Amino acid sequence: MKPSIACVLALVLASAAHADSYEEHDYLLSCSGCHRIDGGGSNVVPSFEGLSELADTPGAREYWIRVPGAAQAPLSDQRLAALMNWLVKRFTAKAPEPLYTAAEVARLRAKPLRDPIAERRRLLAPH
Ligand code: HEC
Repeated sequence: MKPSIACVLALVLASAAHADSYEEHDYLLSCSGCHRIDGGGSNVVPSFEGLSELADTPGAREYWIRVPGAAQAPLSDQRLAALMNWLVKRFTAKAPEPLYTAAEVARLRAKPLRDPIAERRRLLAPH
């Protein structure tokens, strides 16, 4: 049986109430519906375990902010920057260097990717 939307929402809200940081709270409310609470994704949403694979490719830094789910999230530039610093550290064990700032996020999210799948493939293609 599929869990009902109300059930999933209740779970997300209950988890958000226990989140111990803004970043975790923002993740639960804005991202986990598609990416899942543990970041594992689904057959159409890549697992965040794959962030490590992308981390050292030139362009990953820009790609991570320009994917539509991040770029168009209902979060301020400051909150999105903090969320992405937290997310990258959580899944690659290394925070972005330098950390994202609100100004960089504002510049990048103004140009959301039209074809993120193609961009991801391009990043992983041998150079
Ligand atoms: C409506 C569903 C949805 C929501 C909500 C969503 N995403 Fe995504 N995300 C996707 C999909 C689908 C992809 C694969 C690329 C694409 O088609 O956009 C993706 C890809 C990504 C990637 C690239 C991962 C990779 O390995 O290529 C990042 C980073 C990301 N999302 C961050 C976020 C963040 C941060 C949030 C919350 C602020 C968020 N997303 C919210 C659906 C979503």
